[in-house]
Amino acid sequence: MSRDSAQAAYDALAPAYDDFTHEYMFERWTQRLLEKAEDAGLRGEALLDVACGTGLSFLPMLDRGFSVTACDISEGMLDIARAKANGRAKLLQADMRELPDLGTFDLIWAVNDSLNYLMSVEELEATLTGFRRNLAAAGIALFDVNTPVTYRTLFSQEVVVERNGRRLIWQGKSLPGEVRPGLVHEARFEIEGEAGSEHIHRQRHFPEAEVLAAIEASGLNCIGVFGELDGALSAPLDEETHTKAVYLCRVQ
Ligand SMILES: C[S@@+](CC[C@H](N)C(=O)[O-])C[C@H]1O[C@@H](n2cnc3c(N)ncnc32)[C@H](O)[C@@H]1O
Repeated sequence: MSRDSAQAAYDALAPAYDDFTHEYMFERWTQRLLEKAEDAGLRGEALLDVACGTGLSFLPMLDRGFSVTACDISEGMLDIARAKANGRAKLLQADMRELPDLGTFDLIWAVNDSLNYLMSVEELEATLTGFRRNLAAAGIALFDVNTPVTYRTLFSQEVVVERNGRRLIWQGKSLPGEVRPGLVHEARFEIEGEAGSEHIHRQRHFPEAEVLAAIEASGLNCIGVFGELDGALSAPLDEETHTKAVYLCRVQ
């Protein structure tokens, strides 16, 4: 597998990821996502967490009784996830664009800013096709993508997090006035004073119409679309107000 841009970014970010995201409410957010999946008819407790990172998106699910298989493209992120899971989850390196057949899952999710790293509709379709192949007949697939609001804010500003004696600096490279549907945006990250920590995050906006078409092309059926604002989910999605779009699907 060639080392692509997201893999290189996350291998470099891995030692700082948990500090950079320490204010995110993973427990509460995963509970809200789970409630949407349950409202949509989720049965069973086999979870495949795609692009699991350091485990923040599956650790609360272990505590809720799910059996977890999880994958990520970055070995750096997986090493941290492995240490936290301590044998309670099956973890492997995999590129979500070429997802192997890993089992039959009741819930497959890729959450908190993962599918944004796909660079084309073709990559999104390939990823969702992999979800479909691994989904139980009545299973639910759930994922989020950023809206233009996030590219106008987070990708257009500097965010500094000071924690554990380090200054973590995220510098968005976009101009708010130039954010358009379907464009790729970049941000530079560095740990101040740590040579070699600098790297680039490259994310693409996937407009709702593109996502819905990719869901259909992959053999999935969209059963819900929600928008996220300040940790709350509501419908309908408004790409000019919500910061994330959340999609729920099942096999057609
Ligand atoms: C923002 S992190 C989210 C991690 C985790 N889900 C969480 O909630 O903290 C995005 C993750 O997507 C992973 N990723 C990006 N492109 C990927 C790909 N093509 N295949 C698998 N994982 C990928 C990165 O390595 C990174 O761990």
